Parts: sequence; C-alpha cells; structure tokens
Amino acid sequence: MALLITAAIFVLLYIRIRNKTSSTVTVMPFMADAGGFWMYFLSQAFGWSALLWAWGTVILGLMLSGPRPGRLPLSGPRLERLHRTTSLNTIALIAAHALLFGAELVRHDTASWNSAVATAFVEALVPGGYDSGTGKIAIPIGQAALYLAIPLGLIFYVRHRIGQKTWRILHRCVIVVYVLSVWHTLLYGTNVWYDGWFRTSVWLLQLPIAALLLLRLMRPARRSEKLPGRPGATAGARTGWALRVGGRLVVVAVLAALVAVVASGSDGGRSVPPKDTTSTHNHD
Ligand code: HEM
Repeated sequence: MALLITAAIFVLLYIRIRNKTSSTVTVMPFMADAGGFWMYFLSQAFGWSALLWAWGTVILGLMLSGPRPGRLPLSGPRLERLHRTTSLNTIALIAAHALLFGAELVRHDTASWNSAVATAFVEALVPGGYDSGTGKIAIPIGQAALYLAIPLGLIFYVRHRIGQKTWRILHRCVIVVYVLSVWHTLLYGTNVWYDGWFRTSVWLLQLPIAALLLLRLMRPARRSEKLPGRPGATAGARTGWALRVGGRLVVVAVLAALVAVVASGSDGGRSVPPKDTTSTHNHD
C-alpha cells in the first residue's frame, strides 16, 4: 500500500512539474525538465509517504498507550501489529527518500562514479555534509529523524533483554522523530515552500496528534502512569510530579499554538514571487 501511494504521489508531482504548476519549479527553475530529475521527484514522493506513514503510526501508538474510542473495530493485538508494521514501513520509506535524493546527486555529478557516490553519500547521509542554503539545517534535521527512528523503533525487538520499563521509556522519545520529520518538511519541502492551503493543511494535520498526545498523558492506558492528584512526600517524587504536570502544560501550549497557526494562516511559508520574474530563492 505504501508503494502504491508513493507511486500515486509521484505521478501527481510529475504531472505538476510538466504542467509547470509545481512550486518546486518556482523554487528551482532548472528542474522544469521533469525527465531529467525524476529521481528527485520520486524522492519527494517517498518523503510524503514517509510523513503520512509516520503520522499514522504515531496515531496508532498513542491509541495503544492512551485511551482509544470504545467502538474502534480493531482489537488491541491487531492495533499493535498495525503500529509495528507501519513503523517499520516508515523507516523504510524515509530510507528510500534519502537514498533517492543521494542517487539523483550521483546522476548529476560529472566526477568519476566512485567520487560521485562518495560525495552523494556525505551530502545525503552525513550530518553537516550538505553545506549550502536552508539544507544546512534542514538536512541534518531529517537525518536526525532517520537515525533516531532506527534505534527507538527497533528497540522493541530487544525489550526482553533491556527490560520492559527501559524499552518503554526509550520508545516514548520516538515522538521527537515525528516532530523532527514535520519540522524538516516545513523547512525544506519545495511543495510547501510558499504560503497556501497545502502548507496550512500540513500544520492542520498536527492537531489530532497533539490532541491525542494530551489525552494519552491525561488518561494513560497503564494505571501506574496516572498522575496522582498531589505530589508525593519526597523531594524526588515532587520533582517528578512537577515535570509531568509541566509536560501536560507544554502539550496544551502546543495545541493552542497549532490552532493559532491554522486559524491565522501564518505558518512560516514564504511569499509566492510575482509570476513575471524568475525565482531568486536559493534552495541548495
Ligand atoms: C537522511 C535523511 C533525509 C534526507 C537526506 C532528506 C532530504 C530531503 C530533501 C533534499 C528534500 C527537499 C525536496 C524538495 O525539493 O522538496 C526533502 C523534503 C522532504 N522530506 Fe526529507 N530528507 C530526510 C529525512 C526525512 C524524513 C525523516 C522525513 C519524514 C518522515 C522526510 C520527509 C520529507 C518531505 C515530506 C519532504 C517534502 C517534499 C516535497 O516538498 O515534495 N524527510 N528531504
């Protein structure tokens, strides 16, 4: 299914490039020759399916660890299996996205094959290796998401060795991977480069995640994780309690910020340049 959806997104992106309605061409006019850069557009398509799968798997994960609708037509074990398979798919989709970006760099490099592969490897996969434009920040953010997703996701398979509690605490941090992925997309995606409904929709899609995260913190599935009405007697218990209340307040603030962004439409997009000039943006 992930591959089919990626293929459909690729066709859509490709048609938009050919019709010159894609903002990718506005940002990088040299990409107007769709055939010349098909790997780049395929990489973009994998990026979008990766983000969609990441979104889905985070929703499933939050439903496993928090409250879930009583009428959900999925049993607990089925939900868990879906969460596991969508997570593995997400990692594979991100890897395909990054590798195709690297492959496109190799294709357009005039140096010898070995040296082109080495340069592309560094630029696509080594933090700090891509050293120009917005990519200086955006690419390492994407790489951090990929490199954190692998251990924080796959740690599930060694949970018996490291202990259930450790694996659960570490796996929880996987929400950071999701935040980094969305950040990377909004910072660097040329299809969301400019203000407009599509960019705002990406923000809008973060509302259910923030709402479910808040619900998960307020009503955790595990009784031991419930926040007691008042802090315990020891200093450690009081600090822990304050941190947990603080966490809930941060998520409430994030929810409020998301509502403000979506309602105002001020979502950090660049202004669309006038039609009669060539873009001066440097997306390197
Ligand atoms: C090694 C890690 C990564 C590399 C090298 C990388 C590279 C890139 C590049 C070069 C772009 C710009 C494409 C454009 O012109 O739009 C991009 C955009 C994008 N990336 Fe990544 N990325 C990485 C990780 C991720 C992750 C972890 C996700 C999400 C799960 C992701 C999702 C996206 C999406 C959705 C776009 C927007 C594409 C578009 O606008 O059409 N990327 N990435």
